[in-house]
Amino acid sequence: MFAYNLDHVALAVYSLDAALADYARLFGAEPMYREVVEEQGVEEAMIAVGGSFIQLLQPLGPDTPVGRFLESRGEGMHHIALAVADIDAALEHLRAEGSQLVDERPRRGGRGARIAFVHPKSFAGTLVELVESHA
Ligand code: CO
Repeated sequence: MFAYNLDHVALAVYSLDAALADYARLFGAEPMYREVVEEQGVEEAMIAVGGSFIQLLQPLGPDTPVGRFLESRGEGMHHIALAVADIDAALEHLRAEGSQLVDERPRRGGRGARIAFVHPKSFAGTLVELVESHA
């Protein structure tokens, strides 16, 4: 089996600046970093919470996955991300279990990590991101 760690919980927001200001005011933490990930159509910020992160996602435009999410549901939890040492093996396992994969193969996410998304239909109505960790 695989040992998964919680890498991050991602929240879709209208404004990264506003969400970061709220987070700092309410919970007293600044982001570790902030980055535009063109491939995913987002600007993201990561706030360290223990050994995991809260990821805030602002869409780069309305015609992006997170832009469409905000349009239909408003701000809120977008996905959870589980870290695993071997993402290829984890995807193979999910495929063998009949899971519906958004990404058949890993692609590049923030920080250059290899990531892949699993459809919410496959687990508890929740979009799951796998992140290959080299920790
Ligand atoms: Co993520």
